[in-house]
Parts: sequence; structure tokens; C-alpha cells
Amino acid sequence: MTVPAPSAAPARVATPLSVLMCRPTYFTVAYAINPWMDPSRPTDTALAIAQWEDLVATYRSLGFGVELLEPLPGLPDMVFAANGGLVVAGRAYTASFAHEERRPEAAAHAAWFAAAGLEVVEATEVNEGEGDFLAIGDAILAGTGFRASRGSHEELARVFDREIVPLTLVREDYYHLDTAIAVLDARPGSEQIAYLPSAFDGAGLAELRRRYPQAIEASEEDAALFALNVVSDGRHVVTAAGATRFHAQLAADGFVPVSVDLSELRAGGGGVKCCTLEVRLPRAAAEAVA
Ligand code: ARG
Repeated sequence: MTVPAPSAAPARVATPLSVLMCRPTYFTVAYAINPWMDPSRPTDTALAIAQWEDLVATYRSLGFGVELLEPLPGLPDMVFAANGGLVVAGRAYTASFAHEERRPEAAAHAAWFAAAGLEVVEATEVNEGEGDFLAIGDAILAGTGFRASRGSHEELARVFDREIVPLTLVREDYYHLDTAIAVLDARPGSEQIAYLPSAFDGAGLAELRRRYPQAIEASEEDAALFALNVVSDGRHVVTAAGATRFHAQLAADGFVPVSVDLSELRAGGGGVKCCTLEVRLPRAAAEAVA
């Protein structure tokens, strides 16, 4: 769906991304580590795969480079590849999962990072990669409260030469920062986000309002569809189908909403962004590839 942007909206520029994903071959809900998961409800793995393949096709149609991580049996949440680390300027900070059930995923990601020629820094602090760490401008927004420890924020600051902005999440249903904040434009100087105000404590909310006075505030209904769990190339915002009000907010701000239906993966507590780890190369290397 392409809605023409009103002339007041800023011009938005697309920069195709390079991403790492993992096919939901073994996806199911076998345990509950967030309030969306209910192991007594049956899941449809074939549907999850079909919806995920649609997401891959959407990325390819936008010119993204899509790399694939081999899924492993017994790790049903591995489809949520964003949790496997944080990659900035060719350096990969690994995950150290909060819950036992997901712990083995970190090694699979670390092996992929190393094989891809990235510099790997092993985490000693509990964190779930891009679930709680969002790179924007020259900063990293860093969530805490449920999964990433405060210690991981300090570690992040040592690993990456970037300002770390701690944000405390207060709602169990928005347990990862990427369920409550959408990075729409990450370019330094033209940063834009959308977020769900009720997911943050007072200090976090004040910080977001101070930094991003033009930010889009999403509705509870749209956030509950994981509409904020987006991947944006700066112009096209890949987001949940059905979040019509959010799509209109994006269009009014010059973005092009691109809908993908990941309803089956919602049963695991994830959406578009959760399935997608961004592989950010050093600027010079990225230009050589382009
Ligand atoms: N079932 C997974 C968990 O609770 C979902 C992870 C969603 N990922 C994300 N980046 N928000 O860990």
C-alpha cells in the first residue's frame, strides 16, 4: 500500500539493509517466557514458515541483502534472530539470554558472526541483542527491566564508541525494547522513532520526549499487533498488517508502510523486527558492497 505523503512531511531516503534471518523450521510454543506465549494453544509451523517466507520476499523486493542462519532443532525461538546479538560497524556483541531455554542460540549466532568476518566480542552480561538495543544516529537506545541487565549497558558502552541511552520498560507484554520503539530513520541528524508511551517509566518517557519531540506515538491497539516491531530502510517501514492507524501515521510523516502478516509468530511474542538482525558493516565496507 503506497499512500502519497502530504507535502509537509520530510523527504525520506531508502538505504537497503543487510539482514540475518532464521527460518522457523522448528517454531512452536513449547514454553512461556513472555505473556504472549501459551504452550497449551496449538501452533501451525507451516503457516509460520509461509508468513516468514513472505517477510523474506518483502525484504528482497526492497533490495535488502538477506543472509540465513541454520535453524536448530529444540530451539523454537531461533526464528527471532534479532536477539542473537548487536552488530555495529562490523563489530558483533553477542547475546547472553536471560532464559535457560534460549541460551544455546547465542553460540550459533556467534559462529555465524565469526564466519562472516565480523569482529566478535563475547558478552559477559545478560542481554538479548537487538531485542533491547536499537542503534539510531550516533546512539544506542538500550532497554532494561525484563531481559537486558543494567550491566549489559555498561558493557555496550565499552564495546561500541556510542552514547548509550538507558530506557526502563515497565510492562511485561512489552518486555523487549523493540516491541515498544520503532526506529524509522536512523541517520544521524534526521532520527525519527515511533513508540508506545505506556511501556516506559517516567524517566524513560521524559528522555524520549526530549530527544525525539517529533516522534510518532502509537496506539495501544496497534502496538498489540507488534506494529512497532519494525524494520525500516529510512523510507519503507516493514510492519504488521492490520495496524491501520499506525500505517496512516507513518504515511503522514513521509514513510511508506509495507504490511506483512506474521500472526502465527505473534504466538511466540514476536513480529517483523524480532525476526531480523541488522548486519551493519563499517561505512567503507558497506560502500564497497553497494
Ligand atoms: N519468544 C521469544 C522470547 O520471549 C520472542 C522474542 C521476540 N524477539 C524480540 N526481538 N522482541 O524471547
